[in-house]
Amino acid sequence: MKQTVSVREKARAGRLRVRFQRPAGRAAAGFAYTRHHPMTLSLPGEPTLEAIRATRVRLGDRVLTTPVRLWQDGALSRVVGPQTRVFLKEELFQRTGSFKPRGALAVMLDLSPGELARGVTAVSAGNHAMAMAYAAAVLGTTAKVVMPRSANAFRVDRCRELGATVELVDDVHQAFTRVREIEQAEGRTFVHPFEGPKTALGTATLGLELVEQAEGLDAVIVPIGGGGLCAGVASAVKLASPRTLVFGVEPEGADSMHRSFAAGSPQAIDAVRTIADSLGAPHAAPYSFGLCRRYVDDLVRVSDDELRRAMYLLFASAKLAVEPAGAAATAALCGPLVDRLRGKRVGVVVCGANIDHATFAVQVAAGAAEQRPSTSFT
Ligand SMILES: Cc1ncc(COP(=O)(O)O)c(C=O)c1O
Repeated sequence: MKQTVSVREKARAGRLRVRFQRPAGRAAAGFAYTRHHPMTLSLPGEPTLEAIRATRVRLGDRVLTTPVRLWQDGALSRVVGPQTRVFLKEELFQRTGSFKPRGALAVMLDLSPGELARGVTAVSAGNHAMAMAYAAAVLGTTAKVVMPRSANAFRVDRCRELGATVELVDDVHQAFTRVREIEQAEGRTFVHPFEGPKTALGTATLGLELVEQAEGLDAVIVPIGGGGLCAGVASAVKLASPRTLVFGVEPEGADSMHRSFAAGSPQAIDAVRTIADSLGAPHAAPYSFGLCRRYVDDLVRVSDDELRRAMYLLFASAKLAVEPAGAAATAALCGPLVDRLRGKRVGVVVCGANIDHATFAVQVAAGAAEQRPSTSFT
């Protein structure tokens, strides 16, 4: 059965039309992925290994090849078992503190001199805005970002420090209205936070690095907000290492990709309720949804308590201070995936660390208090 996914974000996503075919026998709204589905899919600019490698070369030293570290510690072993090998892709050390510059730069490197002269614009609660500010600075252009007033003050300050003009508005709906006005009035190019072929090629560079830095991975776990990170990473992992399983993880309170997989098309959620603000995308979008559906083996959800415990474990045992989104893959490994991945070689994407010290302290203290006895350590 051939089906056209409705393209709700058509304008923002670059007027994409996604066509895909479900594997025979798969229930229309069913979601029970355990294997990679060889779904036929035609996406413009679909990632190939060659294109991902070329994108990595173009990004050059504007992005860092972040370290991959084997996480060895008694506290971790007590949770995941002594035979499980956990490789942390420490993308929190990326420029601006998250993976976001990979996607933003992959888009912006293709802007014409005229477009660069007019500048770029975006809507973001933080990490994408910081990445845009950084990318604009290194490409010699300007960024005007619209952020909801609820955005973390630390991130708003960082955006300004990185050189962006920040406009604060009351809510996300107003933010989208305002960014359209800026596009019209100033001729700035809108750069989507997670959707589109170039963004996916940018995030795919992270996945390719990971499988090259840690060979023979049985599984990779990737956090999902809107799905751009997972779309790119899953593509790269499956193209370079088809036998490696890819798991996407969403917060229970922001599970648009789960709903989209179940429905067979990108879905929106009514409300976002999670401490992982960076994973709080209100909807999935067709291009990244199509790639995730093709390359992701399974999705899991984690609770805020699991996120806090993972933040604490990463801090106390791996010595990493991360924002909740950066702990999501670890939360999945220690929670819903712990039995399935016991004894395996697992790549965990630690995707961001932009959090103020006061919020970090509160979440980590709560995570420590909630730590189950079996996961406590000295
Ligand atoms: C730190 C961090 N991790 C993960 C995500 C999720 O990425 P995506 O929206 O591409 O799924 C984001 C998105 O902003 C983020 O900032």
